[in-house]
Amino acid sequence: MKLTDEEQAILLGEGGRGAQKAMEILVALGKIYRAFDMVPVQSAQIAGVSYRNIGDPGVEFLADWVQLGAKVAIPAFMNPAGIDRKLWKQMGVDAPFAKKQMKIISHLEKMNIEPTLTCTPYHIGHVPQFGEHIAWSESSAVSFANSVLGARTNREGGPSALAAAIVGRTPRFGLHLDENRLASHHITVKTRLSSPADYGALGYWIGKQVGGGIPYIEGLAEMNGSLEVTEYLKALGAAMAASGAVALYHIQDVTPEAVNSGHQLLKKDHIKIRVEQLNDAYQELKKSGDKLDLVALGCPHHSLEEIRAVAQTVAGRKFKVEFWITTSYQIRQSAAAEGWVQLIESAGGKVISDTCMVVAPLKEAGFNHIAVNSAKAACYLPSHQGAVTYWGTTEQCIQAAIEGKWKF
Ligand code: F3S
Repeated sequence: MKLTDEEQAILLGEGGRGAQKAMEILVALGKIYRAFDMVPVQSAQIAGVSYRNIGDPGVEFLADWVQLGAKVAIPAFMNPAGIDRKLWKQMGVDAPFAKKQMKIISHLEKMNIEPTLTCTPYHIGHVPQFGEHIAWSESSAVSFANSVLGARTNREGGPSALAAAIVGRTPRFGLHLDENRLASHHITVKTRLSSPADYGALGYWIGKQVGGGIPYIEGLAEMNGSLEVTEYLKALGAAMAASGAVALYHIQDVTPEAVNSGHQLLKKDHIKIRVEQLNDAYQELKKSGDKLDLVALGCPHHSLEEIRAVAQTVAGRKFKVEFWITTSYQIRQSAAAEGWVQLIESAGGKVISDTCMVVAPLKEAGFNHIAVNSAKAACYLPSHQGAVTYWGTTEQCIQAAIEGKWKF
C-alpha cells in the first residue's frame, strides 16, 4: 500500500504510540481490501458507545487507547450510548450500568471525541459536503451521508472509525471510489407512498431484495415537493440498512448523484425489480397482540421538526403507557426552548436524549412489549431486546400510547 512520507512517519511511531496503533489498523484494513493508498477524511462518527453492546471488553479497549495518549485529529463525534446522561433513572436503568456507560463516554471524551451521542449528527450541524470523504459508522447515518448528502464513507466498524479519527485518514476502497458507487439494482416503484411508515416499509422490502447491493430507485420523485422529504429519506435508508446492508442508494431526480448522472449510475449487469405494492412488507413487519409497555419513536433520532409534530399532536392528551421520543441532547434543548418537551411531558411522555430503544438496556428495565414507528427498530428490537415489537405509523403509535394497548 502506498503511504505518504507523513503516513509512513506515523506508522514508525513519530506521532506517538496511539497514532501508530491507529495507522497499523488502517494499513492492515487497506491490505485486506487491496486499497492503493489512504484518503484524508474530514470527520468520523464513532459507533460502539453503548455499554450494552460493547461490555467490559469494550471499556478496556477504550481505556487502552487513552493510556496510549491517542487523540483525534479531525472532528469526531459519538453514536448513541445506552443511557440518557440526565434521565437514566427515569428510564429504569440501574446505577452499575450507568456508571460503566459514563466511563465509556469519559474515555472517548479524553480522546477529544464530541459526546453528540446521536445517529443523526447531520441534524446538529455535522453535515458533510458533497464528495467529501468521511469515516462514519452507524448504518443509518452512513446511508444518509452517502446517499442524501453525496459524501463518501464505508460502513465503518467502531474501531476502524476511531483509528480513522486519530490519524485523519482511511484506506481508499469501497464507497470512496467512483466505480463502487454504481447501482447493482434498478428498482421501479409503481405504488404511491405517503408517510414515513410507507417509506420504511419500502426500505425494509428493498433491503431484503438487494442485501449489500446499491439500489437505484425510480418512481419517488414526488417526494421532492414534500415538507417531509428528510423524514422519508431517513426512514427509507435506515430500513434498507437494517433489513439488508445498504450503505448507499440513489433516487432518480432526488439524491445528488442521481440528479447529476441519472441512469449512468446503473451498472451494465444491473438487476431490474418492480414494486407494485407494499402489502408484503407491511405483513412481515406487523405483529399482532395488544399488551404494551412502551411506545418509542425516534429511530433514527428525531429532528426538531419531528418532535414539534408529535408535541402538537399529543397536546392535552394523556398516555396510559411509557412514551418516549429519542433524539440528541442539542435537539432536546431546542425542543425544550420551544415548549415542545413540556407538551410531551404533560401528556406523560419523555424526550430521551443520548440513547435509543435499540441500544439502551430496555429488557433489563422490564420493557417487553414495544411499539415503534421505525422499520429499522422493528427489525432490530426482537433480536436486540427480545421484545414483542409492534410497528405502525406515528399516529398509530401515539393512539396506542393513549389507549394503553396495541390494536392495529
Ligand atoms: Fe439510531 Fe438507535 Fe435507530 S442508533 S438508527 S435510533 S437503532
